[in-house]
Amino acid sequence: MENIVKTEQLYEGKAKKVYATNNDNYVIVDYKDDATAFNGEKKGTIHNKGIINNRVTNHLMKMLEQNGIPTHLVEEISDRETIVKRVSIVPLEVIVRNIAAGSLSKRLGLDEGVKLSKTVLEYCYKDDDLGDPMVNEYHIMAMNWCSKEELDLIASYSLKINELLTDYLKDLNIELIDFKLEFGKTADGTIVLADEISPDTCRFWDSVTHEKLDKDRFRRNLGGEEDAYKEIMKRLLGE
Ligand code: TMP
Ligand code: ASP
Repeated sequence: MENIVKTEQLYEGKAKKVYATNNDNYVIVDYKDDATAFNGEKKGTIHNKGIINNRVTNHLMKMLEQNGIPTHLVEEISDRETIVKRVSIVPLEVIVRNIAAGSLSKRLGLDEGVKLSKTVLEYCYKDDDLGDPMVNEYHIMAMNWCSKEELDLIASYSLKINELLTDYLKDLNIELIDFKLEFGKTADGTIVLADEISPDTCRFWDSVTHEKLDKDRFRRNLGGEEDAYKEIMKRLLGE
């Protein structure tokens, strides 16, 4: 591949920076150690989180690619940086739930840890000022955030990703409780998985002890978040 280099910074989010490159089809994401929760109200840092999330995301996206899910991944270029395809993000957070936890438990009064009899898909409109409100298919169609065909594809990819990740993590003694995905559209209109898949965006519980190995440790002031992130990296990448 040609030499891809950073040019100007396009965007700085809560957990990542995005840079333009000398090739219009690619951008470089740079993962930070900054951690936020509750729409930025709680702020902190998790030492080496950027490195772990970069490596874990790429590892899982490679596995998904090998199993037929198109992703934005191009090439990991350093501990914290990855070249990805430039996409326009579909402004939705797709949440997939296997076991009740977090906001679903709150909303429906379910104990955390209760298995759902069927996988639940939820959509939230990506807008920090509005607090990422939950929306349904009708809102998405009315607001033209994507087409019906694109949403059907996003839903079917999300369910397939859930199956692939659940099976993959089971062998590592990790229970996949729920997670959040984002999708983007490349210049030629292809829908691809974008953003990240990491302990920031998934609930991972140890299958045996049910210990939380994800960002809930930070959100809920449980402590031990650095060790939890390291443990996930060790189980997935062996290091
Ligand atoms: P929730 O139970 O708080 O709605 O979260 C569901 C899943 O989505 C959980 O795995 C954490 C992830 N998530 C994000 O990645 N970003 C967010 O902003 C929120 C609220 C949740
Ligand atoms: N996206 C949330 C925030 O903005 C973080 C989270 O709860 O995962 O702070």
